[in-house]
Amino acid sequence: MIISSATDFRQAARRRLPPFLFHYLDGGAGAEQTLRSNVDDLQAIRLRQRVLRGSEQLDLGVQWFGEGYSLPIALAPVGLTGMYARRGEVQAVRAACHRNIPFIQSTVSVCPLAEVAAQAAHPIWFQLYVLKDRGFMRDVMRRAWELGSRTLVFTVDMPVPGARYRDAHSGMSGPNAPLRRMLQAALHPRWAWDVGLFGRPHDLGNITAYRGSATGLADYIGWLGANFDPGIAWPDLQWIRDEWQGKLVIKGILDPEDARDALAFGADGIVVSNHGGRQLDGAPSSASVLPAIAAAVQGQMTIFADGGVRTGTDVFRMLALGADGVLLGRAFVYALATQGQAGVERLLQIMEKDLRTNMVLTGVRSVSEIGPHLLAA
Ligand code: GLV
Repeated sequence: MIISSATDFRQAARRRLPPFLFHYLDGGAGAEQTLRSNVDDLQAIRLRQRVLRGSEQLDLGVQWFGEGYSLPIALAPVGLTGMYARRGEVQAVRAACHRNIPFIQSTVSVCPLAEVAAQAAHPIWFQLYVLKDRGFMRDVMRRAWELGSRTLVFTVDMPVPGARYRDAHSGMSGPNAPLRRMLQAALHPRWAWDVGLFGRPHDLGNITAYRGSATGLADYIGWLGANFDPGIAWPDLQWIRDEWQGKLVIKGILDPEDARDALAFGADGIVVSNHGGRQLDGAPSSASVLPAIAAAVQGQMTIFADGGVRTGTDVFRMLALGADGVLLGRAFVYALATQGQAGVERLLQIMEKDLRTNMVLTGVRSVSEIGPHLLAA
């Protein structure tokens, strides 16, 4: 099949993956209204074309937290990435380092931090949830720090897991789930060979490292449900700000007041995000709230955004709406599932090309010049 975009990678991933994995990645919460509006609202953003402005030498580089990166893109933390391709987090971090962009490793990765960091040419960023088990949080933060991580991405929009209706149908959860997953694996031999057989162990590497005993896929759902803490509030998190000596990015902000609270808390950055439409169905799209959030905190902290980004044009749109950088979630995992590290690199190359084209057609020379003046009235 011909692959020229993230949408093509999605189709290819759909064929390759057992349905329980494809739908876990592809699906969202409830009726998936927010998931859809992330894509639709972003695509509805119109850009202002400018001509004959001499944009030949383009600078796509960015500086985040004192480090230089080659594109205004980071790979978002995605749980279970290692189930989508053999040792998936390792392949993804290699792609990210090769293209010189940040890789953000999920707490609930398959590969443990140590395995991923050993393959990373520059320090990984680490994502952490607010969990009941403070011992685990301390332990994993210490491990991340010792492995060179200096940016902690703290996810705050998952105090409870969202209602993911697709999971019950797909075999991710629901009746006879283990048996259904085995049958699906048998019907998807390329995945079964690559990941099912040679991608082992299939556990939650960071949790296994902490507990000292293996944790499997069945534990994933149970562990997430049992460990989120719906009672948490900003003051409960102060110990993290005190303990983590590096940069702190709060992920899951959709409201200007929450953005101001994150700033007051001492965050260095935020991710404007509704968790890819996987949490509160009915929450606004990231694109629709980004301008007001940027107006509230721009210049005082680094603003990242995610949700619905499938093309380099979408990256450009997020930057025009006020983001300093964009996180890619599903898009990179579709590519990883299809072609591993090479697929992720290919996707980034496609997006870079789009971004360059857009910069020429809007008459800007550097990423820092992209802003609201490029939105069509
Ligand atoms: C985990 O963060 C998920 O969205 O499933």
